Parts: sequence; C-alpha cells; structure tokens
Amino acid sequence: MTLQFFLDSANVEEIKEALAWGVIAGVTTNPTLLAREKGAFRPLVQQICTLMSGRPVSLEVLATAAGAMVEEAQQLAAIAPNVVVKIPMGEEGLKAVCRLQSGGQKIPCNVTLVFSVNQAILAARAGAAYISPFVGRLDDIGWDGAGLVEEIMAVFRRQQIDTPVIAASIRHPQHVQRVAAAGAHIATVPFSVLKQLAAHPLTTRGIELFLADWARSRPEERL
Ligand code: E4P
Repeated sequence: MTLQFFLDSANVEEIKEALAWGVIAGVTTNPTLLAREKGAFRPLVQQICTLMSGRPVSLEVLATAAGAMVEEAQQLAAIAPNVVVKIPMGEEGLKAVCRLQSGGQKIPCNVTLVFSVNQAILAARAGAAYISPFVGRLDDIGWDGAGLVEEIMAVFRRQQIDTPVIAASIRHPQHVQRVAAAGAHIATVPFSVLKQLAAHPLTTRGIELFLADWARSRPEERL
C-alpha cells in the first residue's frame, strides 16, 4: 500500500500548486483553515471541489448535536459530489455518522479530532469513510502523536478493520515518515510540510554544483 497525500488547506493557490506536483489525492479543511481565507464560504469551497475534480474534499460541520450535524452534512454534501463531511468524534458525532450511512443517500464522513485507539474503533464501527487521528496536537500535550497512529494501524490490522486512516495535524516531515512506516493510508499535510518533504539541502547544493561546473567548462554550449 502506498501512502496517499491530502493537502490540509483551504487556500486555492496552495491547492493549485500542490496539484501541479501530481502528488495530492484529496483536500482536508477545517473551520480554522477556512476562516483564514478571504471571500464567502460557498464559492470558495465550490472552487476547491472543482479544482480537485472527483477527489475527496473534507468540509467540517459546525453543529454539535446529532440532528443538526445530519442537516448540515446534507447541505455540505449538496455542494459537490466529492464532498466528504467531517464530523467531530463524540457521542453526537457517532450518532450523526450512523444516521448518514442509513437510508437513501449515504454521505461519506471523515471522523475528526480522534485522539485514542478506542475512538478510532468506534468511528469505524459507526460507519466512517475516513478516520483522522491528530498527531501534532497529541505531541503538544506531551504524548506521542505518531505513536497513536502506529497503535491504531496495529489494532486495525489485527481486527481487520479497513477504514482508511488519515494521519492529521502533521507538523513536520518526521511525522510523515513515522505514519507511513506505521501503514497509515493517508497523511494530510499543510503546504509548508509538503514543501519540506520535497526539499533537501544536498539536492539544492547538488544542482548548484552541477550548474557551476557546466558554466565553468562549457559556458556557451546549449542543446
Ligand atoms: C485535519 O483534518 C485537520 O484539518 C488538521 O490536520 C489539524 O491540524 P492542526 O492541529 O495543525 O490544526
């Protein structure tokens, strides 16, 4: 299995640039990321969904009670066919996910703000399409966020739970390397981290040296 990358961003320019690299398979947003952008919510997310053409775009509900989450999820899902509704983990969230999987139109849900193996198992059982454990925010309180992803993946393998796990709240390249080694299906990364992944000082230095050597010995030659 190959780790997929999602971009954790609501910024159109970042999404366009990351798409041009050919490496992102989806986008995740949250209210904080969307609040940073200019312009009205609906045209912005419509533009993002169009740019991603068929690839999943997570949009999060603001409601906190199950009934209201279901209604909001239906409205968000109507924006574009590639919308995945992000539902915060918890009793109300689980109820909402379960309701959104029953009946006629099933709406794919990304259960977000997952901080334990047990929350991840419950989210899978309720019918989540994706589960998002938050790595960096666990590190922030002195825990091992990537370790949580390792534990979830080990339990999911053992329990034969195949719900895709999105390692979220990724803060630096080491997080990506660890969640990839753990077998996470997806890492959703800020654009700044995606850029760090592509870079290495020796790559930059290597290009400079090659160009300098060429310029020194064959400055006039071109293809
Ligand atoms: C994931 O879906 C969230 O949008 C995101 O990864 C949160 O990251 P943060 O903890 O850096 O805000």
